[in-house]
Formats: sequence, structure tokens, C-alpha cells
Amino acid sequence: MTERTIELPHPPAPLPLDAPLGPFSTIRVLRRNPIETWTKAHFELPIIVGPSILGMTAVVNDPAAIRRVLVDNATNYRKDALQKRALGPALRDGLLEAEGEEWRVQRRTLAPLLTPKTVDSFAPAVNAAAEDFVNRLMHLREGLVLDVQLEMARVTLDVLGRTIFSDGLERDFDEIAFAVSRIVATVGRLDPFDILDFPEWIPRLGKLGGRRAQAFFASLVESLIARRKRLLARNKASAPRDILTLLLEAQDPQTGAGLSDPQIKSNIQTFIAAGHETTANALTWSLFLLSSRLSQLSFNVVTCWRQRGSV
Ligand code: HEM
Repeated sequence: MTERTIELPHPPAPLPLDAPLGPFSTIRVLRRNPIETWTKAHFELPIIVGPSILGMTAVVNDPAAIRRVLVDNATNYRKDALQKRALGPALRDGLLEAEGEEWRVQRRTLAPLLTPKTVDSFAPAVNAAAEDFVNRLMHLREGLVLDVQLEMARVTLDVLGRTIFSDGLERDFDEIAFAVSRIVATVGRLDPFDILDFPEWIPRLGKLGGRRAQAFFASLVESLIARRKRLLARNKASAPRDILTLLLEAQDPQTGAGLSDPQIKSNIQTFIAAGHETTANALTWSLFLLSSRLSQLSFNVVTCWRQRGSV
């Protein structure tokens, strides 16, 4: 493959700061992109501990220290209150928010979903979503500029839909995509009141705009779970072997217990929240880098960096 470099506007990767920001700037920037509050020291030192607007914080980069925190001495550490407040009640009963014994039980119960063999079984659904996207690209008029980040957000949501609810979503895909993007843009952002540890009864204005989307999405997930439960009760063999069926059938290998309804709903919302923007951003960056290196790519990736702030 021949390589060539072409000039493209570069996405605004955060520039490490020389010194920490003041408190007001920290609140503003945390809301936009937390990593933009990091200084050069955060990128260079193995461990950096110091006061911040969030209290005493430690950023751990050294692999051995990360292992100690996450594995060897994990019982000594808790998920921080800010993450819990920011992720909110929707994910409270899922794997991402669980801690201690509850996390261990869920992780054990969900392990069969995460084996390479099961993940491989989702490949046809992932391929189908990718093929649909490429077909759509092929039919666009020459010279059209696309916001690749938005497109990747659509593709990743499509993959999640096909792998979790493979027998269909009951609602129009665009309606769901709009609700998810609304939730990410409102509920998914750090609110200054959360950062300042204000009591939960004080409304977070920035999150109010996402309430309707959240309610729509939660009731959709509930209805899809109920539909699948009815199908499994009627004719187990006819139910698709997708993530929803696997969640409904999951059993703790030690006790035989299944997941509760709130845990199933929360885990589905977790998979969508955790697997959507993360993967979309990774794909957007990959396409950007590929398009600036490879002449074989017949399109250049020029996304709306300025509008979006950062990825
Ligand atoms: C490039 C893509 C991704 C990135 C960068 C990413 C990043 C992360 C990070 C940093 C965590 C640890 C969070 C914490 O404990 O505070 C995490 C956990 C998690 N992620 Fe992802 N993720 C990605 C894709 C996905 C996808 C596609 C899914 C599911 C469909 C997913 C589901 C989860 C779940 C369930 C957890 C909690 C795991 C546990 O605590 O046992 N993630 N991810």
C-alpha cells in the first residue's frame, strides 16, 4: 500500500497545560472535556497527587500502580462520588456502577457474554451495520462533506441495536438516535453542581433538557425487555441469541441466581452509554488518521471539529 500524507485540518487534541487552571476555568473546562484540565505533569509523571476543585486527586499512569489500584488492592478503593452522581440512577444497577461483592457477582454472571466466542458471534451483526454504512456512503453525491463523528455515532448505535435487540427496535431508528445523542449531550455532561458536590435535590439545569429523552429511552428499553420475555416464555428456541437473551438467561455459576429486572435494564443502558460515544470517537480518530495517510481512501475525513469542540 503506498502512503501519502495529505493536509487536513487537525482535530483539536487537548494541549497539555503548563500550570493548573483556576477554579472557575476548571469547572467550565471539566464540563466540556475533563482531560483538557490536565497539565503536562499529568501526562509525564507516573503518579501525580494534589488538591483540585474535586478535592485531593491522584492521577495514576504507572502500569504497576494501576494494577495495584484496580487488581491487587482493589478493595481499598471506591468509585468516586462524582462519577456516581454524573452517571445517575439509570446506570446504578449495572456493571459499570457496581462495586465490591455486587460487582463480583455481576461480573461472574455476565462473564459468558464477554467470552471471545460469544463476542465473535456478533460479528455478522457488526458487519451488516458497517456494510449498510458503506452502501449509504456510496450513494452520496461526490464532494459532499460529512460530519464523520455524527456518522460514527450512528454506526455504533446501529451495532448496539443489532447486537442487543436483534429482532428490531419497535421505534424509528432516527428517533432513538436523537434521544441517545440528547442524553449524551445533557445527562452525560458534568454539571457544575455535581462538581461542587451540591445536594441532589437541587435541580441540575443542564440535565433538565435530557429528561424527556431519558424517559423515552428507559420506557423503550423496558418495552423491548418485556417483549423478549414474552417470546422466551412462549417459545424459547425461537428467541434470537443476542445480548438481551443472554442477559435474561445469565446465571451466577456459583449460586444459579439470574440478574434482577433493574440489573438487566441498567446493564443494557450501560452497554449503550459505555459502548456508544467511546467507540464512535475511536472510529472517528482512526478514520481521520487513515484518511491523512492512505491515498487508497476515496474520501477525506473532515469533521466539524470547531462546532464540536473536541473529540
Ligand atoms: C473504544 C471504546 C471503549 C473505551 C475507550 C472504553 C473505556 C472504558 C473504561 C475506561 C472503563 C472503566 C470505567 C470505570 O471503571 O470507571 C470501561 C468500563 C466498561 N465498559 Fe467500556 N470502553 C469502550 C467500549 C465499550 C463497549 C463497546 C462496551 C459495551 C458494549 C463497553 C462496556 C463497558 C462496561 C460494561 C464497563 C464496566 C466493566 C466493569 O466494571 O466490569 N465499553 N470502559
